[in-house]
Amino acid sequence: MTDLNQLELDLINAIGAAETAAEVEELRVAALGKSGTISGLLKGMGAMSPEERREKGPVINGLRDRVQSALGARKAELEAAELESRLQAERVDLSLPARPRRKGGVHPTMQVMEEMISLFADMGFAVAEGPDVEDDFHNFTALNFPPKHPAREMHDTFFLKPDPQTGERKVLRTHTSPVQVRTMMSQTPPIRIVAPGRTFRKDSDATHTPMFHQVEGLVIDKGVHMGHLKWTLETFVARFFELDGIQARFRPHHFPFTEPSAEMDIRCDRSGGTLKLNEGDDWMEILGCGMVHPNVLRACGLDPEEWQGFAFGMGVDRLAMLKYGIPDLRPMFDADVRWLAHYGFSPFAAPSSAGGLS
Ligand code: DAH
Repeated sequence: MTDLNQLELDLINAIGAAETAAEVEELRVAALGKSGTISGLLKGMGAMSPEERREKGPVINGLRDRVQSALGARKAELEAAELESRLQAERVDLSLPARPRRKGGVHPTMQVMEEMISLFADMGFAVAEGPDVEDDFHNFTALNFPPKHPAREMHDTFFLKPDPQTGERKVLRTHTSPVQVRTMMSQTPPIRIVAPGRTFRKDSDATHTPMFHQVEGLVIDKGVHMGHLKWTLETFVARFFELDGIQARFRPHHFPFTEPSAEMDIRCDRSGGTLKLNEGDDWMEILGCGMVHPNVLRACGLDPEEWQGFAFGMGVDRLAMLKYGIPDLRPMFDADVRWLAHYGFSPFAAPSSAGGLS
């Protein structure tokens, strides 16, 4: 029995001293494996006399049980320690500061577009979209451009190759106004939408780029008149430039899709090399607008006797330049990271109706 006590003591000590799960496994094989010491003792019981077996059996079985549970306990201990050290090693320190600001940023056009959407959203406008590649019907015909009328040429339209089957020539939309048509044809009034997006014209100089951005607006309801248009646009422009009010004039103009049509100017002072809004005797054109032409309503399936509306359209890039003091239009689309680092906005500066200049 002394041998067994010694064997148990040695095994328990060795198990306690094992440093890895592999060492524990080695000890298990040496004691309880096929040719392990304890397995040998258990096998030896077969050759014992019944009396001897009755005496030694429980001792050997007890030894096996204790060694087995010591092995299990040590293994669990080592596994827990290993998990703990892995957790320590793989810990992510969330308190690390964010990376310093990189060169990139949100493009002023996109920032201003979001600002506009947010201001109009506050006034109950939804956002509507249409395709960049338009057909003649949506871009011109439904908007009351007469067929073959020079107005179509005035837009410096990019025409696509004619369709081999139909001969139809699609266009890159020259304005966001076709979204008015799409909206009137797919929704039932009352309608209150703004349509932001890319527009294209064959034009390139200091103040024009072949691709630029517009936000279109459309309101269709019963009893809509110029007063609604005036309030909506004056309120928008004042909020956009963060002014208490705006000194505006509506100058008669011509657009085929509105009657009457107007351009909205705001009072400004350009003397002294800086631009001051709401001061001086100068006027700056801000946008085009008007009451939706009855022909447009009819082309979209609405009865002009029942529904009226107003519409407006403005250049986003130009208004971004004005608001944030960007002097030149062309670098806006050069994709130069230095320009973006200077004029771009942090992605965290979420545009809102309460933010921007201030
Ligand atoms: N589509 C016009 C343009 O690109 C802008 C415009 C003027 C839109 C008057 C309108 C409007 O909806 O009523 O020049």
